[in-house]
This record gives sequence, C-alpha cells and structure tokens, in this order.
Amino acid sequence: MTAAAATTTDIFRPALHYSTGGTWLNDPNGLIFHDGAYHLYYQNNPFGSEHANLSWGHATSTDLVSWTDHPVAIVCDENEDIFSGSIVFDRQNTSGFGKDGTAPLVAIYTSAYKPGSMLEGIQAQSLAYSLDGGYTWSKYAENPVLDRRSADFRDPKVFRYEGDTGSYWVMVAVEAQDFQVLLYKSRDLRNWEYLSTFGPANATGGIWECPDLFPLPIDGDPENVKWVLTVNLNPGGPNGGSAGQYFVGDFDGATFTSATTVTEGLQDPDRLGEYQWLDWGRDYYAAVSFSDAPEGRRLMIAWMNNWQYVNELPTASWRSPMSLVRELTLQTIGGETHLVQQPVGDWAAVSASVSNFNLPETTIPAGTTILDGAAGTVQRIDISWTPGAAEEFGVVVRGGGSQGTRIGIRPAEGALVVDRRESGHTDFHEAFASIDTAPIRLVEGQYQLTLFVDRCSVEVFAQGGQVTMTELVFPSLTSNDVSLYSVGGSTTLNSLHITQYA
Ligand code: FRU
Repeated sequence: MTAAAATTTDIFRPALHYSTGGTWLNDPNGLIFHDGAYHLYYQNNPFGSEHANLSWGHATSTDLVSWTDHPVAIVCDENEDIFSGSIVFDRQNTSGFGKDGTAPLVAIYTSAYKPGSMLEGIQAQSLAYSLDGGYTWSKYAENPVLDRRSADFRDPKVFRYEGDTGSYWVMVAVEAQDFQVLLYKSRDLRNWEYLSTFGPANATGGIWECPDLFPLPIDGDPENVKWVLTVNLNPGGPNGGSAGQYFVGDFDGATFTSATTVTEGLQDPDRLGEYQWLDWGRDYYAAVSFSDAPEGRRLMIAWMNNWQYVNELPTASWRSPMSLVRELTLQTIGGETHLVQQPVGDWAAVSASVSNFNLPETTIPAGTTILDGAAGTVQRIDISWTPGAAEEFGVVVRGGGSQGTRIGIRPAEGALVVDRRESGHTDFHEAFASIDTAPIRLVEGQYQLTLFVDRCSVEVFAQGGQVTMTELVFPSLTSNDVSLYSVGGSTTLNSLHITQYA
C-alpha cells in the first residue's frame, strides 16, 4: 500500500508496509524476483477476516515499498487449504511443466487436507506451476508429491543447490511438533529423496514453522561462505509468542551442521537470551527470503504479527501488515558470526511529501522533552547517543496525552527496551501491553538506533542492524509527538535526524 492509500477511515492502515485490501493475511509465501518484479504471495482468506480458506494472495512491486495487488493466485478448494511454501524459477524445465520454450515458475506449497477429503488431516507437499510469470497458476494433477502421512509436515522452502555433490533442488520443511527441519533433494521437483534432519536445537518453546536455508559470505568475503538456517517458532520467542531464530553453519549438499547450537534437544528456558534471533520484538514471524533477488542479495520479509493476539487486533476488516523488507548480511561481531539486517526501500520516492527535522549534538537533561516540529505518524528516525550518568535514555514516539511508545537503552544492563504499555489500544489482549527487551552492545562508545514508525508499528534497527525489534502499536491518530528522555542523569545526543513521510 502506498502512503496515499491510508485514510482516516482506518487509522491503523500502514503507509510504508504492505497490507491487504480488506481480508485476512498471514505468512509471506513464494517470494521471488522474476521478470523485473518482486512477487509477494501470502497466506490469505479471500473471503473474510479470519484464518480460514487459506489461499495465496498476490502482490508485486519494483521498489519493495509500493505494491500492486493481483487476483488471488492459488485458491483453496473442497479438498485442501493452500498453506505456506515457496516458488522457484525452473529455468531448465526440470519439472517438465514448461511449454513451447517457456520455462515455468513452480510453487511448492503445503496441502492441508480438509475433513472429508481423501487425505483428511494430512499435511503434504504439492506443486502448482505458472507459465505467465506468476499471475495464473495450475495445480499439478498428481499432487501431493511428498507425503509422510504426517499431520504437521509443512512450509517447504526450495532452492537450487550447486556444489561438489551436484546440481539439484533442495527442500527444507518442518515436522512442526517435533521441532525438526527435514531436508530433501530432487532432480525434477516431482520426486523427492530424503537427505537429513536438523533439530531439535536451541529454542523449542513452540512448534517449528517456515524454515529457510541460504548461503552468505562472512564480512563480504566470497571465499568465506557460511550457511544460515532460519526457523520460526510459535510460541517460545524471547519476549513471548511467535518469533524466528537462526543457526549459522555449513551445508554439504545433504546435511546442515550448526556452529551456533547452544542446546541440543529440548530447550533450557533460562537460555533463551543466548540463542540467535531474527528479531527480538513481538511481531516478526514466518520470516522467509526471496528467491533470485538481484545481485545475490538476501532479502527477507515477515508477517508483522503474533499468533498470540492476531484475532483480537483492533484493525478493521484487513488483518495484519507485512514487515518492511530487510537485507541480510553475515558479520563478525565480538568474535562471533551474526546476521545484520538493514531495512530496504526508497520510502521518499513513494511518499506524497517528505520533510526533515534535525538536531545537532546536545545534552539531554534528566526528564522528558517534546521536540517541537518533529511530530508525525509515519517517520524514519536516525539517532545516536553517547551514554553518560543516566540509567536509561531514549525516545518516545506516537506520543500524546498519556500515550506513547518508549524505545530506550539501559546501558548498565546492556538492554534495548521497547515499552508499549501506554502505546494506545492495548486492552484487546492481556499479552499486548508489554515491555520487551533485547541485548545490545556499545559500539565505539555509542548507541545508534534507526526507527521506522508507521500507523500501527515501530521497527527498531539498533547498532546498524545488529539487533532488531518489531512491534505493533495502536495509538490515536493525534498521538504523534516525538520526545527525548533521560532518567537519573543526562545523556549526550550525538545526532538526530527525522524523515517525515506523508
Ligand atoms: C505459520 C503457519 C504455517 C502454515 C500457515 C497456515 O504462521 O502456521 O506453518 O503453513 O501458517 O496459515
């Protein structure tokens, strides 16, 4: 949705994030860059605002910020819901679905078989293909293509592997209740051979869903490539409910070996803070990456929501936005390998008007100071501080009256804090009025935050994207103040830059 699409009839409709016209949305599916466009498919109920009739909705973008809606791509029927999955461009027509020299796009999705169908209660992997670049789809007549007679085998992510062991398709999918990622290989996308199983490991406080596996160079060095396995889990996140964790290691064409496993088997609940998380906030789930992104970039998008309270959200008939798109890199930080994530998009290019607000270096005294001329409901805030005597300092966004969402740093604890207890509507669910934390390290004596504030969300990229926190908030439209605060002493603000989008 572009900024122009947000109206006062639905004050929470985001300006910088994708949301559906008036129906249910959950996981991103089938993310692929193809023929000059980014395709975003997503779990959608074309007929309503509840999690039912699961089909793949479809939107495209050339800039990853403004999206054009298209008719529902793959529709549920009396036998199956179309659960999450991925799309590959089958350049060499290994699947045989191509025709007259046109190579197909092939979707690999989970058939969730309905009561009364032949495979009632089973989840198995199925195919659909498109010969018009992803706009219309045909289901393969011989579906499913991979059936383990399991009720919780789902969310296939397929990629092309080229390595010492050959060139073939690899699928990662979950056995959700067993906290396992299963790997399979195929020549033709129709016949699949079992390779290996990863897990349980690290966080297992909830079922595992929506895995992904991809290579990335460490510190940009093409000679030093590692593989990243991401897996979402629900609940069991670091601050409660749905979240995504990742492992860094090696993949030899058959087996993923993690170098970052802290606990094998079932998790030790006291060690959640030691695991690696895609995002420490409450609302970044089912994250998966794009296939075939230009220049080998690894771009990821997530459902900006939490299964804990999605059904109670105070939005109108549309339910849930997507997150911003992020670019992932692997970097060495403190001797360890971590994902670093940067938001991607030219938000100014898709905004009707843009203005700027700057503050030079200044001392923030103890207390809270509203910044005159900085108010806004859709903004990017870049800010950095050098800590002083204060026990906590930070910024309050979407403020007004008693409302405000506080994003702060507690240097002694090494903690980043997002406090949405007074963020606006919070009483629709008991878990919503939260104060959430993430570990943060000082970098060259400073703390730096990039915040994206939209009509129902705050996304925090801390220390150049080393730590991220994504949270929904539901403030009044008139709550648009930006304030700086410092507790128990003063803090040096090095710089503050706000870009206002409208
Ligand atoms: C994750 C998930 C997936 C499943 C889909 C169903 O949010 O539960 O595991 O495929 O949603 O909508």
